Amino acid sequence: MLLKLLAVLFLSSGALRAQRSTQDAFMLEYFQRRILEMEERLIRCDQDIQKVNQRMYDMSAEMRGQVGTVNALKSEIHGYVESLATRVDRVERDVEYLHNKLPDTSSVEISDSLLDQQVQETQSKRKAVITAGKECSTRLSGIKSQKILKKAGDAVGSWLKDPTIGSSKIYFFSGSRNNTLLQFGSLKSFTESNTSKPKVIQLPRPWQGTGHAIYDGFVYYHNADTQNEVLKVSLVNRTVADRMLLPTAGRIPTYGLTSHTFLDFAVDEMGLWVIHADPDIGGNLVITKLDSKSLSTEHTWDTTCKSRNAEGAFIVCGTLYVVYNSHSGGRSSIQCLFDIHDTIWIEDLPVMYFPKGYSSHSSMHYQPQDKQIYAWDDGYQTVYHLEEVKKLLQVT
Ligand SMILES: *[C@@H]1O[C@H](CO)[C@@H](O)[C@H](O)[C@H]1NC(C)=O
Ligand SMILES: *[C@@H]1O[C@H](CO)[C@@H](O)[C@H](O)[C@H]1NC(C)=O
Ligand SMILES: *[C@@H]1O[C@H](CO)[C@@H](O)[C@H](O)[C@H]1NC(C)=O
Repeated sequence: MLLKLLAVLFLSSGALRAQRSTQDAFMLEYFQRRILEMEERLIRCDQDIQKVNQRMYDMSAEMRGQVGTVNALKSEIHGYVESLATRVDRVERDVEYLHNKLPDTSSVEISDSLLDQQVQETQSKRKAVITAGKECSTRLSGIKSQKILKKAGDAVGSWLKDPTIGSSKIYFFSGSRNNTLLQFGSLKSFTESNTSKPKVIQLPRPWQGTGHAIYDGFVYYHNADTQNEVLKVSLVNRTVADRMLLPTAGRIPTYGLTSHTFLDFAVDEMGLWVIHADPDIGGNLVITKLDSKSLSTEHTWDTTCKSRNAEGAFIVCGTLYVVYNSHSGGRSSIQCLFDIHDTIWIEDLPVMYFPKGYSSHSSMHYQPQDKQIYAWDDGYQTVYHLEEVKKLLQVT
């Protein structure tokens, strides 16, 4: 329409020369109006764009806020799941504990009556202790079963059975430092501790760690506040019978995962031992055979077993078996051994796992009379039955 109008104006321009000036004025006015209109539309358009921008900005701010709350929710849920997992874990352990405790009372009684039988059989050699090397034709082939007997004391500690033939006494050391231990007449009175009160034994000096040993009527332990002093204390009159310093020991914990124990005593068929870690040989474990009578060193072996990630160890027939785990607690397994007789090699041995999926052992002590490990698993007093085979079978 505009073009038409222009054309008409143009064609008639020659003929209508007189009216020219008024027509020019009209055109000018027309164009000015159009420009003004366009300007107004541009301004409105600009305002619209600004509004859209503002809305975009508001929306993204809202989105950011939402993402923040989602993140907060996510971490809250994560924490909740984690605490739930640990609670489930504890419940599982409690169930396992009850499950193990209830049906096994009869077998505890059986093993006690067996012990009574043993007492009668060995009446003549009442004072006898373990004879060195006599039963040492076996090697460990696996961990047969586990029995959780009790939950008592601190999260860390140690409990032991008297290895003297004919004795069924149980000794209970709660915590990693104390001078008071408890003595129970038998495993039965230990598991049913409200039927008989234990005997309270006060040591002249507190112990350090969880590595103590009971042997031949004496308790052997790391004297607290000393680097590496071993005390031998009579269980009869609680006096210090002897003391010694264990060279190279006490600078680092024996096991990487059990930070409070620097000297770990062990008893096997051959007698009394002590295990420690030596930083001069890369933190590997060192085993020392002690003469219990004179409390002197018979021999020392540097082993090839690492203390890193180890949580415990025990000695069976002169062979050290080292148990490894992880910092968070997990499935314990034997992954290193050292045989002083050089008849067993780690190559002969498959990795041996402990039965439970989750555990954290602060002490593990072998009991040569009944071939069991007495362990302290995060406050639970636990027994592991070992599977042993004749060493000779392996050699030939
Ligand atoms: C020492 O052990 C006794 C008996 O188990 C216990 O009652 C006491 O609280 C312990 N002391 C410390 C400081 O842990
Ligand atoms: C232990 O004590 C509790 C409460 O006094 C009692 O109910 C329970 O029968 C006792 N257990 C044994 C084995 O005597
Ligand atoms: C304490 O008993 C041990 C035996 O357990 C004995 O050798 C020692 O002489 C006794 N000491 C004292 C002071 O009675």
